[in-house]
Amino acid sequence: MTLRIGPVELAHPVLSAPIAGFTDRIFRDIVRDFGGCGLIYTEMVSAGGWIGGSMPPERLDGVTTEARPLGVQLWDREEAPLEEAARRLVDLGITVIDLNFGCPKKRIMGKCGAGATLLRDPATVGRLVVATRTAPAVARSAADNGAAAVTVHGRTADDSYGVPCDRAMIREVVEAVSIPVIANGDVHDAASAVATLRETGAAGVMVARGALTRPWIFREIAAALRGEAVPAPPSHAEQRALLLRHHAAMIEREGDRWGTVVMRKFAVRYLTGMPGARHFREQITRAENGAQFRETVERLFPEAGAATPPSTAFEDNACA
Ligand SMILES: Cc1cc2nc3c(=O)[nH]c(=O)nc-3n(C[C@H](O)[C@H](O)[C@H](O)COP(=O)(O)O)c2cc1C
Repeated sequence: MTLRIGPVELAHPVLSAPIAGFTDRIFRDIVRDFGGCGLIYTEMVSAGGWIGGSMPPERLDGVTTEARPLGVQLWDREEAPLEEAARRLVDLGITVIDLNFGCPKKRIMGKCGAGATLLRDPATVGRLVVATRTAPAVARSAADNGAAAVTVHGRTADDSYGVPCDRAMIREVVEAVSIPVIANGDVHDAASAVATLRETGAAGVMVARGALTRPWIFREIAAALRGEAVPAPPSHAEQRALLLRHHAAMIEREGDRWGTVVMRKFAVRYLTGMPGARHFREQITRAENGAQFRETVERLFPEAGAATPPSTAFEDNACA
C-alpha cells in the first residue's frame, strides 16, 4: 500500500498528527526513532502570527536541521499570510504543508473565523488552498488545481471524543475526490488502523492521541500493513529509558523546573493503562524538579523489576 502526497511517496502510509502543545522537536525525534511513521508534523502554526512576528519561536524549533520528510500545519483565514508562510516553508525545505480546516477550538473558530468554521465556506477553503500552493513540490504534482492530499478527522466540530469517529463519512470523502485521503480518528493500534483503512478505502491513516500514549505505534501499524507480525512493545527498561530521555531533553531545553513541569503532560500519557497508573500520575504531576521526576520514574520502573507494558487504552478528551 503506497501513499503519495503530490510527488512525495511516503515510506509508510501512517502519519503522526500535528498536536498542539505536544509534537515539538523532542517528541518528533522520539517518534522517528521508533520507526514506522511515514510523515510527522510539527505543532500547528498561525500563518499570521508567524508573519507578524508573534509566533513563539519554539513552534518551529529545529526544523532546519531535522530529517525529512517533515510536515508543517498552517492555519489562518487570510490568503496573504498563508502565501507568505508557505513560501517560507518551501525555503526551509518542508516536505508537506497541511492547512488546518478542522480545529474546533473556540478561539480559532470564533475570534479568528478559522479552523472548522471554514468547513462551512468551501469557496474560502479553495482560495486559501490556491494561495498556499506555492511549494514547488506540490506545484510539480499531478494535481492541476487544489491540494495534493486531504486528511479527514471523522467528527464534526461539535462532536466530543466520546462520539466514535465516523468512518462512513470518511469513505464518502474518499469516493468524492481523486486525490489521496488520509483517515484520522480513533486509530490507537494496528487493528484499528487496518479496520479504518478497510472501511474507509483511505490511502493512509493519521494518528494523534495514540502516538502520545505509545509513540512506537507507527512501527506496529506499518508492520501490520505489510502483513507482518506486530512487533512487541518496548520492554520495561526501554520504557523507563524513554521517559528519562524525554525528560532529559526537555530540561536541557527548558531548564530543570520548567522542563519538568512541561514533561508532566507527556509522562501521564506514557503511563496510561499501566497498573497503578493513577497513583503514579498523582505523583508525577506533583514533581517540581528534575530530581523528583527521576525519583518517581525510578520507583515506577525499578531497575530490576517487572512491569506490564502500557495497554492501548487512551483517554485523552482534551483538544489543546
Ligand atoms: C491535545 C490535542 C491537540 C491537537 N492539536 C491539533 C492541531 O494542532 N492540529 C490539528 O489538525 N489537529 C489537532 N488535534 C486533533 C488531532 O490531530 C486528531 O484529528 C484527533 O485527535 C483525532 O485523532 P485521534 O483519535 O488519533 O486522536 C489535536 C488533538 C489533541 C488531543
